[in-house]
Amino acid sequence: MNVSDSERVATTLSARGYEITDLQDDADVVLINTCSVRERAEHKLYTEVGRIRKNRPNKPVVGVMGCVAQLEGETLFDKIEGVDFVLGTRAVGRVADALENVFEGRNQFADLGERDIDYDWSVAEGQRHSPYVAFVPIIEGCNKFCTYCIVPFSRGREVSLTPSEVIRQVLELRRQGVKEIHLIGQNVNSYRPTDESGLEGFAGKTAFSRLLRAVAATGIERIKFNTSFPRDFHLDIVDAIEENENLCNWVHLPVQSGSDRVLKAMKRLHTVDRYKKIIDRIRSSNREITLTTDIIVGFPGETREDFQQTVELFEYCRYDSAYIFKYSPRFGTPAYKMEDDVSHAEKTARFLELEKVQKRLQSESLSRYNGRTLSVLAEKVSAKSADDLSGHSTCHRVVNFKGDISLLGKAVDVRITDIKVNSLYGEVV
Ligand code: 5AD
Ligand code: SF4
Repeated sequence: MNVSDSERVATTLSARGYEITDLQDDADVVLINTCSVRERAEHKLYTEVGRIRKNRPNKPVVGVMGCVAQLEGETLFDKIEGVDFVLGTRAVGRVADALENVFEGRNQFADLGERDIDYDWSVAEGQRHSPYVAFVPIIEGCNKFCTYCIVPFSRGREVSLTPSEVIRQVLELRRQGVKEIHLIGQNVNSYRPTDESGLEGFAGKTAFSRLLRAVAATGIERIKFNTSFPRDFHLDIVDAIEENENLCNWVHLPVQSGSDRVLKAMKRLHTVDRYKKIIDRIRSSNREITLTTDIIVGFPGETREDFQQTVELFEYCRYDSAYIFKYSPRFGTPAYKMEDDVSHAEKTARFLELEKVQKRLQSESLSRYNGRTLSVLAEKVSAKSADDLSGHSTCHRVVNFKGDISLLGKAVDVRITDIKVNSLYGEVV
């Protein structure tokens, strides 16, 4: 969502006559998009502003956007020297106005207001992170309040785009030659359009799977979506994937813990059993759907036994990859008031143990790809070798293969010859 916000800010600024540069040392204005989901992400902002001030004697205008901006607001001016303006998560559409305020001498300008009614969610062709892959936000914000999570505070309440706007954007992206779209949101499964004009056929608990079918009908080559919240994951989503070849065979389903006791304390609203039922349905699909997840270790009160249940759940689910995080207390969340009683050393020990289990399961599971042919979208020249191209399979695995730039933007059949920890390697067939 942060990458998508940055793309929309770049779209707004270039329409207002600014030139976007990736070279920070050339820039007259540096905009830092921030994450506050864990403490470490937040610290990066402090180091970055310090670095800009030290290395750039000509003093560019520095703006801070994203979750830290929303949560800290004007207090950032006191906390970090050298910040000129602060732009909240829902104020991104007014970035040019914020800049004009600074240029007119109103330094230390903050806009933490709500989105304008006519806010345009689309991204201009030249401002996407890839010419072939595009993010389409379908819902923003979160109403869930998992007890450890800062997102409901930094992103606010859920707002869904109308189905007609989503379809309009997808058709436009298709016209521009985009091959793969990612429907994104903090919790895509609670997609609930509220605009009367766009509601027909999109009410109730299957609103998201209906949207998936409607997007599939646009004929765009590949559709992926994330993130899914297990409690709201309707099994009709799996039906939709089975009915439509262009809905990709990948589901990212963060479980966070394998212990019902911890899940309850996290207020995740699902049990391990319910989660396993979803996994069973996904595993029994004829589409061979790949599963990935997020996990937090060392949540307040997590015992060795709770952690062991997480390990058992990993054995059961056989994820193709898992993002494992050590619990990080976030000020303002309900869990912040709970005692952070798992020591740092124990969090690290659980993290390393789970990582080891995942690596073993992952390498066993990924070996199934050896010798098989996967459809890979050739997205860019590989960073490691100029002779190789790099892209993603439909199950969202990074695949590198020998190939020349004429293949860029095409879905290529690649036979897998080598299984690496974070990627696959293959040859064009
Ligand atoms: N501490 C550690 N991990 C967290 N996440 C969210 N909040 C926290 C926190 N306070 C993780 C969750 C989520 C992912 C995006 O970040 O696993 O799914
Ligand atoms: Fe955070 Fe939970 Fe919302 Fe995900 S569903 S953004 S973890 S509160």
